[in-house]
Amino acid sequence: MEPLFKGRHFITLQEWSKEDIDKLLEVSKDLKHKFLTNVPTPYLTNKTAFLIFFEQSTRTRNSMESGLAQLGGHATFLDTSTMQLAHGESAKDTAVILSSFGHGIACRYCNWGLGNKFLREMAKHSTVPIMNLQDDFYHPMQGLADLMTIQEVYPDTKHLKVSIIWAYATSHKKPISVPLTQILLFPRYAMDVTLAFPEGYDLPEWAYEQARKNALENGGSFTITHDINEAFKDADIVIPKNWGSWVKNQSTAVVDDLLQSYKGWKCTEEMMALASPNVKYMHALPADRGNEVEDSVIDGPHSIVYQEAENRLHTAKAVMAMTMGNK
Ligand code: CP
Repeated sequence: MEPLFKGRHFITLQEWSKEDIDKLLEVSKDLKHKFLTNVPTPYLTNKTAFLIFFEQSTRTRNSMESGLAQLGGHATFLDTSTMQLAHGESAKDTAVILSSFGHGIACRYCNWGLGNKFLREMAKHSTVPIMNLQDDFYHPMQGLADLMTIQEVYPDTKHLKVSIIWAYATSHKKPISVPLTQILLFPRYAMDVTLAFPEGYDLPEWAYEQARKNALENGGSFTITHDINEAFKDADIVIPKNWGSWVKNQSTAVVDDLLQSYKGWKCTEEMMALASPNVKYMHALPADRGNEVEDSVIDGPHSIVYQEAENRLHTAKAVMAMTMGNK
C-alpha cells in the first residue's frame, strides 16, 4: 500500500481535506474487510510507534497497539507517569528523541489549555508523524471512526439530522474534544448537525464559526439549541454524551451545582421516541450508564455503539498505514 500521507501529522481532521479523509475511509474499509476475512496486511513491517498516554484509555490504546501489530509493526505503550516528562522533560526533547527511535508518535493529553499545545510543540520538532489520540480540543481518531460508522449505516449522509446532545454524567469531567470534532466534521459531509446543551456547557465560539463555515461550503447545516426535545425530534442519529463546562469554568471538580441541575439531560426511551423511527444511537464510549443513557437504549435495537467502537481499530490502522510507511 502506498503511504499517500507519509510523514503527515494527524492532529485535527480540520487540517485534512475532504478528499484526504475520503482516502483514509477507503483504506479503513479495505482494512476492515481484510481483517474480517483473515487477509494479512503487512504494510508497516518492522515499523515502530510510541503511544504516549497522560490519561486512561481502553479503545484508543488497544486499537493502536493491536492495529500496529496487525500491520506488521510494534507499538510501545508509554504511561507519562513513568516517563521523564513527569520530571519536566520538554515536549521538544521527547519528540526529537522518540522520532529518532521509530516511525510515529501518538499522544493523548486532554488537560485543558495544555494538551493541544503539547502535541503542536511535538509536531514542530518531530521527524515522524504525530498522531492525536485525544487532546483538549480534538479527537480525530474518534471522529474518523464515527464518520465511517455513519456511512456504513447511511451511505448518503446529505441532510441526515445528526444531534449531538450534552448528557448528565458524574464519572469524570470529560473533555469537549468529541463533540467539537463532530460539529466540525459532520457538516463537511452535508449533514444537518444540531448541537444541544444546557446553559454553561458551551463549546468555544471559534468552533461554532468553523462549523457554520464547513456547513455553508458543503451543503450541510449547523444549529445550536438549549432544548433537548428539539434535538431529539425527528433525528436520524443521536449522540447524547457528557462533556465538561471547560469553556466557562476551568475547575477540575467533577460534580458541582451546575451539573446537578441538569440531571434531566439523559437519553431515555421516551426521548428516543421523539426521533425518527430508524434513529441510531451513538456514543464514543465509555458511557456513564444510568446517568447519560438508560441501559435499554444503549443495549437496545437503535444502538450502534459496538460497531462504532470496532471501527476505531480499522480507522487507526488506516491513519498509521498512510502516515507512517517508508520513513
Ligand atoms: N472513545 C475513546 O476514546 O475511548 P477510550 O477513552 O477508551 O480510548
